[in-house]
Amino acid sequence: MQDTHRRAARRLVTTLGIALAASLLPAFPTVAAKSIDRAAPRRHLLLDDGWRFHAGDPDGGSARYLYDVRPEVTASADGKVADARPEEAAQVARADVPVLKPWILPSGNAFIRDPARRYKRPAAEPAVDAPFARLAFDDSGWRPVVLPHDWAIEGPFLATGPYGGMGRLKTWGPAWYRRKLDISAADRGKKIFLDVDGAMSYASVWVNGHLAGGWPYGYNSFRIDLTPWLQPGGANQLAIRLDNPPESARWYPGAGLYRNVWLTTTAPVHVGQWGVTVTTPDVSAASARVAWRVAVDNEGGAPASATVTTELYALDERGRIAGKPVATAVSAPTTVAAGASGTVSGATTLSKPRLWGPPPTQQPHRYALVTTVRQDGRVVDRTETPFGIRTVRFDADRGLLVNGEHIPLRGVNNHHDLGALGAAFNARAAERQLEILRTMGANAVRLSHNPPDPQLLDLADRMGFLVLDEIFDSWERKKTPLDFHLIFPDWHEQDLRAMIRRDRNHPSIVIWSIGNEVGEQYTGKAGAAVARALHRIAREEDPTRPTTTAMNYAKSDMPLPAEVDVIGLNYQGEGIRQDPEFEGTDRIRTPPQYPLFHARFPDKAIVSTESASAFSSRGVYLFPVHPTNSSIVRDGRGGDSAGKQVSAYELYAVDFGASADKVFAQLDRNPYVAGEFVWTGFDYLGEPTPYYDARSSYSGIVDLAGFPKDRYYLYQSRWRPDLPMVHVLPHWTWPERVGQITPVHVFTSGDEAELFVNGTSQGRRKKAPYEYRLRWDDVTYAPGEVTVVAYKNGREWARETVKTAGAPAALRAQADRTALASDGRDLAFVTVRVVDKDGVPAPRARDRVRFTVEGPADLVATDNGDATSFEPFQAQDKAAFNGLVLGIVRTRPGAGGTITVRADGAGLKGTIVKLLSKPPGN
Ligand code: GAL
Repeated sequence: MQDTHRRAARRLVTTLGIALAASLLPAFPTVAAKSIDRAAPRRHLLLDDGWRFHAGDPDGGSARYLYDVRPEVTASADGKVADARPEEAAQVARADVPVLKPWILPSGNAFIRDPARRYKRPAAEPAVDAPFARLAFDDSGWRPVVLPHDWAIEGPFLATGPYGGMGRLKTWGPAWYRRKLDISAADRGKKIFLDVDGAMSYASVWVNGHLAGGWPYGYNSFRIDLTPWLQPGGANQLAIRLDNPPESARWYPGAGLYRNVWLTTTAPVHVGQWGVTVTTPDVSAASARVAWRVAVDNEGGAPASATVTTELYALDERGRIAGKPVATAVSAPTTVAAGASGTVSGATTLSKPRLWGPPPTQQPHRYALVTTVRQDGRVVDRTETPFGIRTVRFDADRGLLVNGEHIPLRGVNNHHDLGALGAAFNARAAERQLEILRTMGANAVRLSHNPPDPQLLDLADRMGFLVLDEIFDSWERKKTPLDFHLIFPDWHEQDLRAMIRRDRNHPSIVIWSIGNEVGEQYTGKAGAAVARALHRIAREEDPTRPTTTAMNYAKSDMPLPAEVDVIGLNYQGEGIRQDPEFEGTDRIRTPPQYPLFHARFPDKAIVSTESASAFSSRGVYLFPVHPTNSSIVRDGRGGDSAGKQVSAYELYAVDFGASADKVFAQLDRNPYVAGEFVWTGFDYLGEPTPYYDARSSYSGIVDLAGFPKDRYYLYQSRWRPDLPMVHVLPHWTWPERVGQITPVHVFTSGDEAELFVNGTSQGRRKKAPYEYRLRWDDVTYAPGEVTVVAYKNGREWARETVKTAGAPAALRAQADRTALASDGRDLAFVTVRVVDKDGVPAPRARDRVRFTVEGPADLVATDNGDATSFEPFQAQDKAAFNGLVLGIVRTRPGAGGTITVRADGAGLKGTIVKLLSKPPGN
C-alpha cells in the first residue's frame, strides 16, 4: 500500500518537469506570513479584538433566517446510549423563514472537484433585511468581546431538563458579531480574505450589509473572499451571524467565534488557500526527498507569468527559522490564466535530514518551506509552510512504524473543549493538556470527532504527538436530530477536502479518520459506498496517509471495513457487553474481535480507535469494591446515582466498555494491534454517562480541571515502564470506616510490591501475566498511614506513603508556570490544595476557596473537576472537590509585572503564589 503511495507521489514530481536548482542563497531576515508591514506582499492580521457581540437576533429588520430548512425539534431527549444505532434523516418540506443556502454554498466551491458541480451565486440578493450588518448601525450597546470567544460557557447551567448531553449549557440560537474593518485606499486592487479558524456554527458573513458567504460546519476553518463587498479608503463593516442548532451534538459544541479570525490581504496573483503541499516521498537517515506543490491563483484580469522560489529552512524547537536555507529551488516561469489557478511543483534532496518523530526515542525536528512568488520579477507573495520529514507505515503484523521504529500507539481521545474555558481555543491551555498527557506517557491523540483548532496541530508537531485527525461523527444517518447529517449530502466533499488541505503538511498526523461510529455501519453495501466515496476524496487530497473509520458495530465480514486502509475498532477488541446481564438485550453485543479482523484482513493494520470508556470521579471511593478487574457501573457496583459519582477504584466502565486493565490484557494478547486511543484523556463538557443530570463526563483519565485521577498512574505504569513509580489508592482518611474492609490497590511500573498499614506488612504480591494492578482486597482500615514499596526484578524500585489527614487547616497553592507572556492570552493554572495543620492533603475537603489576583492579570475561570458542580466557571470562588480547586489566571496585554494570586478560605490559613508577566520574547 505504502509503496503505491510512494510511486504515485514520485510520478507526480517527475511528470511536472519544473527546473530545479538546489543552491544556497542568503536567508532573508523575516518571513512575511505573520507580518503587519503594510508594504509586505501578504498581510495576515489577527482580527481578535474590536468586536461587538449580541446574543440572539437584535430587534429591527427581518434577519430571522436559516441556512436551510431543518426538522423542528419539539421534544428534547437526553441520555441516549452512546452506541445507539443512528437513525435515518427526517424529511422536511419547507421553511417559514428565508433560507440562505443558495448564497452560502458557493463559499465551498474551491473544494468541489468537479467544476460542473460548483455553485453559482444567485443573481438576486437574499430576501433578508439585516440592518445590523450595515456600517450605519449603532452597536455601541452591544457587548465588546475579544476572540476567541465562546458565549455559551458563561451559562448559567441548565440544572434541570434533558440537557446533560450538551453539557447543560445553552449553546443554541443565533448570535451576531460585528467589527469595523479599516481598509486603506492603498489596498484597492488587492484581494482581501476573511480567514476563520472556526465558528460554531452555520456562519453567514456580511460585509457592508451584503451577504458575502458562509460555512455551516462549526469545526472547519474557512475563507470568505471579502473583496467584492469592501470599499477601500475607509471604514467597512463586517458582521457574522452564527446559528447553532439545538440538539446538534452528543457533547458540548461551544458557541461563537471560538477560534482565531484573520484578515489576509494579497496581491491578485498569490499562493492559494492552503496552497502549498509538502511531501517526503523517500526518506532515509542519509537523505530525504522533499517534494512540493504550490497552487498559484491568478485573480487579476490578465494572464500572469509567475515563478516560484522555494527555500527550505530548519526550524528550531520553538518553530522559528534557524540559520540559512538548507536548499533553494527556483521554478521555470509558469503562465496562469486570468481567474485560474496554476500548479508549480518541485523537489529537492536533503542530505542527513533531521527526522521528525515521537519522543522519547525520537525527536520532533521540523523544517519550513518558504515560498516566494514573483510576477515579472516582482515579489508578489511569500508564505511559510512548516513540515517534518518522517516515514509512517501501518503494518498489519507489527503496528505503527515511524522512521522504521515500532511505536505502540499510547493514545487518548479528546474533545475540543478546554474545560472551564469552554470551546474558546487557548494555545497554552491545549499545551498544558498535552504536557499532562506526555508526563503520563501518552504519545498520540485522536481528535474526536472533528477537525481541531490549527494551533493544536502546531503543538502536536512541536511536541511530537502522533495525531488521528477526524472529520465527522455522522454521515447521512443521524445521531442527534440536528447534527451534521442534515448537510452531509451537500457538504461532505467540501468539508473533508478542507480539513485535509489545511492539515496535510503536519508531520504529527499519521492517519485520517473519515468518521466515527457512523450509522452507515448498519446499511451494508449502501453504507460502504459512502465510505468508498470519502476514502477516495481523502486519497485524492493526500495519497501519503491511510484512512480509517472507527467501528463499534461493523464486523469483519461486512462491507464497510474493506473500504478503509486501517481497521479502527471502538471497544470491539475487548468485546462488548459480554457479561451475563446483557443476555437478551437489543444492544450491541460482541465477543473480542481482534483475531477475526486480523484473519480477514491480513494486510490491514488494526487500531483501537476507542478503548475503555472507563468512568471515575476523582477522589471518590465507593464500597464494596468489585472483585473482578472490569465491571459495569451500577449502584452498589462502583456507582452512586444519588450523588452522581463513580468510584475511583478504576474498575468501572460504560456498559459497552472495559477497564484499562482489561484493555491492556487484550492488547497484549493480540500484539499485532497498533495500539489504543483511550476514551478519554480529559473529562469533557457534556455526555455525562452514566449520570445525565451532571454537566461533564466521567471518562477522563484526567478530570475537567486537569487533575489526574488514579487511572492516570495505571496508564503511566504501562506507558512509561522505565519510570520508577508506584501509586496507591484509596486515600487513608476514613473516620467512619475504622475496623472495616477497605481494599488497597497499587499501580506500579515495577513487577511486585509490599504493602504496609501502620508498619504491618499486608504481604508482598507479584503481577501475574495479563495483570496490571496489585490488589489487597482484605485490608482493615485503621487511621495512620499506608506505605507501598514496589520492586522490579527483585530490587526496590519506588515507594509511596499516604497518611490520614486531620481537619482542614490551610491552603497550599502551586502554579504550573510562574513566568508568563504579557500578551493577554498566556495562562497560569494555579492548583490549590486543602491541607491539615501538618500539611497532609485533606482528600475529602469541600471548603470554599476564594481567589484574588493583584497585578496585570485576571482570574478568568475556576473549576474543581466535579462533574456535578453547577457553579459558574467564571466565579472567583469555588468549593474544593476532594481537596482540590483550580484557578486560571490570564495575563493582560502590556508591559507586564508581578502578579500575586491569593487563595483564601473560611477558617483556613490562606496562601499566595507570585507570577511574573513579561512581554513575549523577553
Ligand atoms: C463511543 C463514541 C464516543 C463516546 C463514547 C462514550 O461510542 O464514539 O463519542 O460517545 O462512546 O462512552
